Amino acid sequence: MVDVILGLQWGDEGKGKIVDWFAKDYDVIARFQGGPNAGHTLYVGDKKIVLHQIPSGVFHPNTVNLIGNGVVLDPVTLKKECETVSSFGIDLKKNLFISERTHLILPTHRALDKAAELSKGNQKIGSTLKGIGPAYMDKTGRNGLRVGDLLDKNFTTSYIRLRLKHQKLLDNYSFSEDISAWEEEFFEAVDFLRGLNIVNGEYFINEKLNQGKKVLAEGAQGTMLDIDFGTFPYVTSSNTISAGVCTGLGVAPQRIREVIGITKAYCTRVGSGPFPTELNDETGEELRKVGNEFGATTGRPRRCGWIDLVALRYTCMINGVTKIVMTKADVLDGFNELKVCTSYRLNGRESTEIPFQMEKISMEPVYKSFSGWNKDICAAKDYEKLPENMKLYIEFINQFLGVPIRYISNGPKREQLLTIE
Ligand code: GDP
Ligand code: IMO
Ligand code: MG
Repeated sequence: MVDVILGLQWGDEGKGKIVDWFAKDYDVIARFQGGPNAGHTLYVGDKKIVLHQIPSGVFHPNTVNLIGNGVVLDPVTLKKECETVSSFGIDLKKNLFISERTHLILPTHRALDKAAELSKGNQKIGSTLKGIGPAYMDKTGRNGLRVGDLLDKNFTTSYIRLRLKHQKLLDNYSFSEDISAWEEEFFEAVDFLRGLNIVNGEYFINEKLNQGKKVLAEGAQGTMLDIDFGTFPYVTSSNTISAGVCTGLGVAPQRIREVIGITKAYCTRVGSGPFPTELNDETGEELRKVGNEFGATTGRPRRCGWIDLVALRYTCMINGVTKIVMTKADVLDGFNELKVCTSYRLNGRESTEIPFQMEKISMEPVYKSFSGWNKDICAAKDYEKLPENMKLYIEFINQFLGVPIRYISNGPKREQLLTIE
């Protein structure tokens, strides 16, 4: 059986920490989409680690980790990450596997990402510039190169052919940066990648499932960044939702059991695009400061605002969420008043649905207010002993979404997690 952990907002919900916490109960942890645009933070003791491509179960010696076919892989980032992980004594020969169908991110994909963003001016997506969009375009355009192609003796010829195509596009953008240093790094990293475990991912995972092993699929980004159901065009280029698990790993839908959705106790977004509950004021600044809301991949300040229950109800629906983990509840400790968005006023009409194109209509969030709890909850271990005001906040959200919040994260460390029975 496969359980899924994924983000219900615009990414950075705390997936890395939660996957790391759950990993001990699983045999396989598998990434099914996205690439090095992800930044998943977890702690090994007091050491903070940010993973971009390797699944967040890698620090548990008894799990194996799979990079699935739905991922786009940058060999350069992977090599660096492998070096970091190995320095902790983890044997990647034993516990990291990569699907041969996983598409490669080439240096020219990164260049194209940059050129495309520059050409968009103030309509830019705010991409992480890791080459994600161009790599997925080559996949759906049936041009891309895959990890399995690295083992073909004609790989360099295929690379040069695709690079020439990219060069024409770059010329169209008048992009003239020298990328030869990137290419040198790329070929070094490709050699390293050839030495890792390259497998047929779909057989690998289905054999494990047939042996009764437990698989945890780890999402990247969040549902509001999904290519189909997110705030298009301000989205990433993959299906970040539970349906993406099937196409991104090669498992059948009936294998999926729990879908564990992660939300912060408030909301953030990094990059451009609509964000109905964004706070461009002192409260937003306070959330950013207390929550240390700066991107794990790019270091950019994250936009902050109140929790959006309209968006969360939508993302629970799209994913079939069975339980929720609420992270960063401790960040709200010092706020006197908290707000939750329960509907939108769209052109003067109240609605509880996500509209087609948020950025093109006049839109205002409708809030319900709560009194804060004004108490430090970082050391709490028991849900029953949490402040009453906090329980009221959580229970309201529970009722509104119709999906139980089963875990509350009250700090970045592994052990800071409360279970609600
Ligand atoms: P991901 O992309 O979903 O894995 O999330 P990120 O790692 O990008 O961002 C989450 C940030 O919040 C990281 O810096 C985590 O260390 C931190 N974090 C996770 N859970 C908690 C929590 O419950 N409380 C606090 N204060 N920080 C948390
Ligand atoms: P994790 O897995 C937050 C955002 C970018 C940009 C848009 C498109 O750490 O939650 P892309 O590089 O994919 O072309 O960027 O998506 N974005 C993320 N935001 N967390 C992420 O990943 C993100 N990955 C991409 O900021 O707005
Ligand atoms: Mg992140």
